[in-house]
Amino acid sequence: MNIAVLCSGNGTNLQAIIDSVKSGYVPAKIALVVSDNKSAFSLTRARTAGIETFVLDPKDFKTREEFDKEVVKNLKKKDVGLVVLAGFMRIISPYFIKEYKNRIINIHPALLPSFKGTRGIKDALDYGVKVTGPTAHFVDEKLDNGPIILQAAVEVKGDDTEEALSQRVHKAEHRIYPEAIKFFVEGRLKIEGRRVKIL
Ligand code: GAR
Repeated sequence: MNIAVLCSGNGTNLQAIIDSVKSGYVPAKIALVVSDNKSAFSLTRARTAGIETFVLDPKDFKTREEFDKEVVKNLKKKDVGLVVLAGFMRIISPYFIKEYKNRIINIHPALLPSFKGTRGIKDALDYGVKVTGPTAHFVDEKLDNGPIILQAAVEVKGDDTEEALSQRVHKAEHRIYPEAIKFFVEGRLKIEGRRVKIL
């Protein structure tokens, strides 16, 4: 199966996926890496691994849907069967979600449904939870809402800083996200309402 990874930033999750594909753990091909930020380090990671990249500047599009139409056109050209959001800091339009229904997944740095949004790690730390951790989930029309594939528990320590906690959450992301992708490409995920069965 061809997959595409969409990223806006550093791309440590992209790197974990690249490594998992290379080792054969994830039986798929990364056909395209898409970014809305031409200076994202994830693009350097992709190019180093010899993966084709596609960059779009949101400023060149009047609406979210126009931007997404251009993305979808390029995903279809590559015959992409799974869209992987990895630190892609944009809301996906209903158009995109319809075109790739149940074929878009995301990694979020908190245990959903807690701490949705763009500051999942800081919000969890500030709230004072004792356990947090990443969530790999399907993407639907609502923000950070779709059916959950995998989660991992990360203990919050008394003297944790955002940086320290962030490092441990990332480490857990790099473990569960490739695993979730592997399950998807192997056809082992079955969505039943809000629940995802792993076959
Ligand atoms: C990850 O921690 C991911 O969970 C988060 O962005 C980071 C990207 O890191 N995503 C969100 O907060 C989405 N709401 P990376 O670029 O090093 O993979």
